[in-house]
Amino acid sequence: MSKHLIDPFGRTVEYIRLSVTDRCDLRCFYCLPVKYRDFSEPEEWLTFDEIVRVIRAFASLGVQRIRVTGGEPLVRKNLPALVSQLNDIPGIEDLSLSTNAVSLGKQATELKSAGIGRINVSLDSLRADRFKRITKGNLDKVMNGLMTAKQLGFDPIKINMVLMKGVNDDEVEDMIEFCIENNFTLRFIETMPMGDTGRTAASHYVNLQDVKNHIAERYELIPGVMPGGGPARYVQIAGTDLNIGFITPISQHFCETCNRVRLAADGTMYLCLGQEHKFEFRPLLRAGISDSELADAAREAIKLKPERHEFKEKPQQIVRFMSKTGG
Ligand code: 5AD
Ligand code: SF4
Repeated sequence: MSKHLIDPFGRTVEYIRLSVTDRCDLRCFYCLPVKYRDFSEPEEWLTFDEIVRVIRAFASLGVQRIRVTGGEPLVRKNLPALVSQLNDIPGIEDLSLSTNAVSLGKQATELKSAGIGRINVSLDSLRADRFKRITKGNLDKVMNGLMTAKQLGFDPIKINMVLMKGVNDDEVEDMIEFCIENNFTLRFIETMPMGDTGRTAASHYVNLQDVKNHIAERYELIPGVMPGGGPARYVQIAGTDLNIGFITPISQHFCETCNRVRLAADGTMYLCLGQEHKFEFRPLLRAGISDSELADAAREAIKLKPERHEFKEKPQQIVRFMSKTGG
């Protein structure tokens, strides 16, 4: 039997986005409703041991990279302990984290020693008042988290900015300068119609092809490259180390090279961000499945991976919020 996971469309799956909680200490308006309460309950969350079993099964089938996400992953208690368990799994070579950085200042040191190498931070504005309006959070805390991570030597640190017309699209150049100064990588993301919140944000949709053209008028751009294997297409600003990535699920989707699946905190594996195709691991784990049966289940799950998302054709389709799968 093949040691690789190949989906029905010939794509090799070697990357899992692991959501450790659907909760979050922010309320980005394009992600979570302010008064949202309908989070999964603790008894529904996979325990650390259950998570490790699932990841071990996937690692035995060729998965090499794990990104820890949320909601906001740092609100899950004792996250560094999970990270170090993941780090010990044979075959896992790359452990990264996506965070809003609100409590990164407190946790960065422990996370680094537990084995997190690369960090992505969501940051949609450099202006405190605007940041508050978008996220309901405090920009100072995020900056503190970012600077702590930088001092500790996480490399690369990528800034993810969801670009929205009339919301933050006037900050493109400020963000570029900020990232040049701090040696961060910058990625712009198109809004996706995930849940009602995402659909609201879709009315602020910005086509990133236009943004790239606009940047090219101001800066000399050369082809860029970044490790990570994700869907971002990079350019570099000549004469600087800055790589700018464009994540364009809407204007130019990248489904043909999709190499990932998503495991939600409750043990549901989502095979595509923009589809409902899923596989439930929790009932199997709690019914006492063996390791070899778990590997078989992992193969079955990958068979369900659909060809592509349909954000454009069926923007009403996805009711779950982004916080369920962490992007
Ligand atoms: N569209 C695009 N990006 C989103 N994110 C959350 N919701 C949406 C959405 N509807 C982003 C976050 C974070 C990443 C994990 O996903 O800002 O950067
Ligand atoms: Fe939290 Fe990320 Fe959603 Fe913002 S986008 S509310 S930081 S999960």
